[in-house]
Amino acid sequence: MSFHSGEPGKRPTESEAEMIVMMLPSDANPKGNVFGGVILKHVDLIAGLVAKRHSGGANVVTASIDRMVFLKPVFIGNALIISARITYVRRSSMEIEVNVEAEDLDDNSKVHAATAFVTMVALDKYGKPTKIPHLIMDNDNDKKRYSEGELRMNSRLKDAGKV
Ligand SMILES: CC(C)(COP(=O)(O)OP(=O)(O)OC[C@H]1O[C@@H](n2cnc3c(N)ncnc32)[C@H](O)[C@@H]1OP(=O)(O)O)[C@@H](O)C(=O)NCCC(=O)NCCS
Repeated sequence: MSFHSGEPGKRPTESEAEMIVMMLPSDANPKGNVFGGVILKHVDLIAGLVAKRHSGGANVVTASIDRMVFLKPVFIGNALIISARITYVRRSSMEIEVNVEAEDLDDNSKVHAATAFVTMVALDKYGKPTKIPHLIMDNDNDKKRYSEGELRMNSRLKDAGKV
């Protein structure tokens, strides 16, 4: 952890996460296609985990999930590989980028199945939005992600009528 203007900050690498989940028959329709809602549930879960890590254990809730496009089908027996990383923070809100790959375990081929941007908000013990650490950026990639995240956040807040 390092400090900026006296406030603690955290690096994206301190909260990033990956999870791998095998898709089972109960996750899919009768033809074997995994439900979008099942994938969305895992996206929401991992975004919450990253947000909670960044917020130092505060309660976090999902404020929004940007439009999510399912690029490729995911089937029963595939491994869903979900990785998530914080891209941008404001006072209490943060944007998490979540990437979803599907691995065919018969031949280990992988496809990019979806990408989502999730906004999580940290709450204090009274359920009110609370301040979170700023983001420490060590390289140009982090800075690029941050400025792109800022543009997306401004646009989603405008769409939500929040600015
Ligand atoms: C998200 C929530 C806490 C925001 O509360 P609020 O009373 O609108 O509070 P504020 O207007 O002060 O906003 C707090 C933060 O949330 C952000 N926010 C609010 N609505 C947002 C939206 N639609 N998209 C992105 N960020 C949003 C604000 O920009 C602000 O961020 P900042 O502190 O970093 O500047 C509140 O709407 C809520 O509890 N929603 C339900 C969350 C939930 O239960 N999710 C699970 C799925 S149902």
